[in-house]
Amino acid sequence: MGKSHFPIDLAIMSAIRQLVKPGSTIVELGSGNGTNRLTKEFTVYSIEDNLNWIGYCEDSNYIHAPLVKLDYDEEIVEWYNPDIIKENLPENYDLILIDGPAGKKGRSGFLANLDLFNLNIPIVIDDTLREHECNVARETAFLLNRPMYMFWNFSIITPEILNREQIARIQKVALEILDGEEEPYLSSYFSSAKEKVAKNFTTLEGVIKEEQEKKLEYSRLKASQRKLKSIENSFSLKLGRIITSPITILLKLIRRN
Ligand SMILES: C[S@@+](CC[C@H](N)C(=O)[O-])C[C@H]1O[C@@H](n2cnc3c(N)ncnc32)[C@H](O)[C@@H]1O
Repeated sequence: MGKSHFPIDLAIMSAIRQLVKPGSTIVELGSGNGTNRLTKEFTVYSIEDNLNWIGYCEDSNYIHAPLVKLDYDEEIVEWYNPDIIKENLPENYDLILIDGPAGKKGRSGFLANLDLFNLNIPIVIDDTLREHECNVARETAFLLNRPMYMFWNFSIITPEILNREQIARIQKVALEILDGEEEPYLSSYFSSAKEKVAKNFTTLEGVIKEEQEKKLEYSRLKASQRKLKSIENSFSLKLGRIITSPITILLKLIRRN
């Protein structure tokens, strides 16, 4: 049996770690096995329509929102009942993960209900190797006037611009996952499963190392700046200045003459 692509993979976990702090609150649309991964590091609210998946992960906070028919862009889509979401969403949360509802079209219901959500936080959209999910992602990016960072099977739309290290870290894990995928799966989404350019882990690791060294250098500089300031403000330096001030004044007068 092939690998199940229902749960979020480790690259999405890596992306979430780059986007929010440990212990942050995540609102997940569509729950499953992967929710267990999330709850180990984060507080999770899972919006789920299917009773079979409600309570599957004992540490998540489930919001049971059955699907209802909605109108979006002249199409009828089935999406979570917006009234239930509105009533049950936590007041504060740090990231939205879109991975449901199941099926081919429903996820555009998110676009029809953007007003329900806090949009000033990162949004991670899984499965954007599929046309529908990809359209939901690019439409979200368009409507929010934000860049969309697209990895091979998921996308990120975030108010903060991602830095080199964050992108390199996410891409590294995304490529590791891609390495483990089978040809028939990839061929069902891409014209060819054969890569044209080999995966370059060395470059990605180089970027991560370089950025870490820069951070280290920066914190060293900050530390020596703090040290200099504390010397400047120290009592002994001030006392020294007072004691030597007559000599300083005398020297200035001599130089002027
Ligand atoms: C892509 S899944 C969501 C997966 C979830 N975010 C995770 O990481 O496990 C979308 C929907 O399919 C259903 N589902 C979840 N896991 C499933 C599985 N292993 N097999 C079939 N359906 C699943 C649930 O109703 C879920 O809302």
